[in-house]
Amino acid sequence: MPLPDEPATLLGNLTPAQFMRRYWQKKPLLIRQAIPDIQAPLTRDELFELADSEDAESRLITHFRKSWAMEHGPFAPDELPSVKKRDWTLLVQGVNLHDDRARALLDRFRFIPDARVDDLMISYATDGGGVGAHFDSYDVFLLQVHGKRRWRFGAQRDLSLKEGLPLKVLQHFEAEEEWVLEPGDMLYLPPHIAHDGVAEGECMTASIGFRAPSASELSGQFLYHLAERLDDAHSAGAKSAKGVQRYRDPAQPAVSHPALLPPLMIERVGAILANIEWDEKDVASFLGTYLSEPKPNVVFDPPHRPLNENRFIERAKQSGLKLDKKTVLLYDKHAYFMNGEPDLMSGKLRKWLPELADKRYLEGKRFVTLSGDSSMTVLLHEWYCAGWIQVDANA
Ligand code: SIN
Ligand code: CO
Repeated sequence: MPLPDEPATLLGNLTPAQFMRRYWQKKPLLIRQAIPDIQAPLTRDELFELADSEDAESRLITHFRKSWAMEHGPFAPDELPSVKKRDWTLLVQGVNLHDDRARALLDRFRFIPDARVDDLMISYATDGGGVGAHFDSYDVFLLQVHGKRRWRFGAQRDLSLKEGLPLKVLQHFEAEEEWVLEPGDMLYLPPHIAHDGVAEGECMTASIGFRAPSASELSGQFLYHLAERLDDAHSAGAKSAKGVQRYRDPAQPAVSHPALLPPLMIERVGAILANIEWDEKDVASFLGTYLSEPKPNVVFDPPHRPLNENRFIERAKQSGLKLDKKTVLLYDKHAYFMNGEPDLMSGKLRKWLPELADKRYLEGKRFVTLSGDSSMTVLLHEWYCAGWIQVDANA
């Protein structure tokens, strides 16, 4: 993981700090040999195998006889076109959730906060294959991992899309730049840059994608989070019936228009809603919970024969701990968020949890110092039994 002020080959010898200042969310950057001697994290056959599984999200996009078509996976091997046929591509989303090499590749980009990371997608294309000229609403690093792809892109204003197609294809596309990327080359694109990548021969591209929730998604999810918090507070105070704030209307007059919404009700409910309060802690707790929530298709794999707590402690002392590749662990000053579950950051936790979250592993010798505290080892053992962390940081 590159440090903010160290020049990184990955960024064409810019430091991450320079990259973020000059390019991130601002303008495209082509980096030749960002990862020299790169090996595709998965072979073609391994990618096809993943596309055959229910756990992974995959799409097949074909452009046969100039007509765009899209299908959603899973795909049995005989449901994919022949690799000898031109003009098709298979996209597999969230490969980092299924493969440690893909996870390791994604981790090279952790100079960007985890809260912003979406996933690592891998595409396979035969000659001429691609997804058409389009734009994305998110930042992306397009890393060529096998074969060649011709990228054309530009910052055009007109982002209108062709109608009636199963995928987003720009109506008018004019490229300002054009480059052929070879294995190890990488193109960074900020949101809304029009782009089109066409395979030159068989190729594979890894996309490191980011998440940027819309204001309406954030508002909706935040209000939902707040409502749950209010519910919790209410059930805690429910012992005294008076503790629950409820609509009342002792001043309601008799009506001759029973279907009319009572103006008094609108006013009173407005007053109840205006009383909803939140502060920065609520925002942080919402963000931590929401952004660390496992994606809908994520299933953790608990160990088949879990070590008991004592043996777990002994093993962790020797070889350390690491977060499972599917785990999202975020934290702030007050709390931590483990796979969507918030909890307070106690003084004891503060000694090691931020380190585990930032590095995604904890060395054995670091574990030795906390192994005497049973409240901590019980917690870590629970996480281990849930499949959220693993013993053996080196494996
Ligand atoms: C790809 O085909 O691998 C990249 C898709 C994209 O341009 O977003
Ligand atoms: Co794109």
